[in-house]
Amino acid sequence: MQGDLLTTLIDEKKIQDRVSEIAKELGKKFESAKEPPIFICVLKGASFFYADLIKAFPHDCKCDFMGCSSYGSGTSSSGEVKVTYDLSMSIKGKDVVLVEDIVDTGYTLNFLNKFLQTREPKSVTTVSLLHKPEAKKIDYELDIKGFDIGNEFVVGYGLDFNNFYRHLPEISILTNTQLN
Ligand code: IMP
Repeated sequence: MQGDLLTTLIDEKKIQDRVSEIAKELGKKFESAKEPPIFICVLKGASFFYADLIKAFPHDCKCDFMGCSSYGSGTSSSGEVKVTYDLSMSIKGKDVVLVEDIVDTGYTLNFLNKFLQTREPKSVTTVSLLHKPEAKKIDYELDIKGFDIGNEFVVGYGLDFNNFYRHLPEISILTNTQLN
């Protein structure tokens, strides 16, 4: 929104370099898999990262999408996570890669991991572009993370504040998080 103060934290080049590295790491992990893994995008925040990641993934994969909410319109997690949009395919017996934008308190990742396990996948690999270690409130399993960041509210590259700023190509710290 006009007038808000944004300070670049991670520029486009750094994001793209790290995304390539993560895609390579996943490529190695699934090199000898008998079936292509299913990449699950957690809407909406992970969508930019997800698109770049699957484009750089060096093998076949299947794609599916999930929606969940825990924040409403503010900047702190309510701790209550709800599925708002479910998968369209069965993951039973399949390798799954869960792609998140950011792990803050950990409530969402913890919830989604448990939720996916009830569908009996062969494996779940959790990936998040960003991770806020200081904000952790619950145990979670995060296999691959792009960047550790401080306890600040960030926007851009898919991440929003009140649905603004997703379109920005870099990740920035949003200084003013008061809702107008
Ligand atoms: P958690 O459940 O507290 O770990 O939060 C996970 C979700 O909160 C993420 O998937 C984001 O949608 C949102 N979130 C957490 N921190 C930020 C932030 O700094 N900027 C934008 N969204 C955030």
